[in-house]
Amino acid sequence: MKKRKGIVLAGGSATRLYPLTLAISKQIMPVYDKPMIYYPLSVLMEADIREVLIISTPRDIATFKELLGDGTQWGMNFTYKVQEKPNGLAEAFIIAEDFIGDDNVALILGDNMFYGANLEEVLKRANERESESTIFGLYIKDPRAYGVVEMDNDNNVISIEEKPENPKSNYAVPGLYFYTNDVVKIAKGLKPSARGELEITSVSEEYMKQGKLKVEKLGKGMTWFDTGTHDALNEAANFVQTIEKRQGIQVCCPEEIAFKKGWITNKELSDLADKYIKTNYGLYLKELANNKLGE
Ligand code: DAU
Repeated sequence: MKKRKGIVLAGGSATRLYPLTLAISKQIMPVYDKPMIYYPLSVLMEADIREVLIISTPRDIATFKELLGDGTQWGMNFTYKVQEKPNGLAEAFIIAEDFIGDDNVALILGDNMFYGANLEEVLKRANERESESTIFGLYIKDPRAYGVVEMDNDNNVISIEEKPENPKSNYAVPGLYFYTNDVVKIAKGLKPSARGELEITSVSEEYMKQGKLKVEKLGKGMTWFDTGTHDALNEAANFVQTIEKRQGIQVCCPEEIAFKKGWITNKELSDLADKYIKTNYGLYLKELANNKLGE
């Protein structure tokens, strides 16, 4: 299978979260017990993507490096690049040109969280599609604040629009995109939109015109949050807390995924657990390393 690399785009100014984000990045903010960026990273990991480029602002990139290092602690490989200004999501592919090289790529927004039963299977299908691109569609009541996708019975995209006033469907497009290698070329050919950005929706539109864009529907059991406002951030944290407390499982825990995929050993997991041993997070990892957690 053609290799796929991952990008987490974690820039922007997050003015809708002021004053929280006056001095630090939104994607470092806590969502209950872990930094926000752990959640999108977990999604890439679930898709078996181990080489990841993290893109953030000139101010914040150092904080991400300090938090995540070179990725070896999770059996991964992280590199970093700066986006000088929030010129649009599609600019990520231009910034990532050398990193992408000859491979396919998945981009996830650093403030998007996914959790649910069919995630793994949906990611697998997207990953295995080597010469077509994939976006995702989630049914929501009012999708006007998002990209909106319309599809035929074979999950081919027939229209995609950015924040339409009159949506053609109820399927919002979350911030996760599996594109083929030519995305760099497509991104380079884009012109800034009315809001002055290189739009990710224009990239998807290009694949649609070529007849090479599929949608994977995220089923009813799937939860998707973007965490862009105070309320959304709090709701996401409450959701994670509820699941973790009631069920005694971790939501989007990179150490757990790395261990279950065999990217780190028992001993390595145990050493990571020791670092956080004063927290439930650390105790959970310890139990996992000692094989006491069922599933
Ligand atoms: O969340 C999903 C939505 O994300 C999609 O449905 C839309 O199609 C897509 O355009 C995007 O919508 P937004 O307009 O809401 O994106 P926003 O400008 O809020 O940026 C999303 C995240 O990416 C945010 O955390 C900031 C970061 N960002 C944004 C821009 C424009 C960057 O890191 N660099 C950028 O240049």
